[in-house]
Amino acid sequence: AKILVLNGPNLNLLGSREPGHYGQTTLDEIQQQLEGFASTRGLSLEVLQSNAEHVLIDAIHRAALDGVEFIIINPAAFTHTSVALRDALLAVGIPFIEVHLSNVHAREPFRAHSHFSDIAVGVISGLGAEGYLLALRAATRRLALTSP
Ligand code: DQA
Repeated sequence: AKILVLNGPNLNLLGSREPGHYGQTTLDEIQQQLEGFASTRGLSLEVLQSNAEHVLIDAIHRAALDGVEFIIINPAAFTHTSVALRDALLAVGIPFIEVHLSNVHAREPFRAHSHFSDIAVGVISGLGAEGYLLALRAATRRLALTSP
């Protein structure tokens, strides 16, 4: 099965960016952990980060053509702003899990609203880098249940 992991703006700075909120694990390290899990399960994984909304939207469009079966997405600040990214996910209809490293409900009020949560399979927030691995685990299980 093909799974796409998308990361929004400023997540390239993980490791040094506000470690109190986002921890010290870098995006490369997260990617390695995910690839370690994927390789033992025969999953094909693509991990992408962009600071540009249109790059993430294009990646979602491409995912549909490439037969991606599940998306794990941390939209970062676009969580709270991007109707366009929401519409892209609705357009392709690929199931997805929304991940946030920090607990968005324990921070500024504007972070409590997400344009994605109501259309996500599930949401993981506040468990740090482990959230990605938990999401991948859940995605894998769901795909095993739904594929013939
Ligand atoms: C974030 C939470 C967002 O509010 C923030 O804009 C981010 C990262 C998280 O992973 O906790 O950039 O998505």
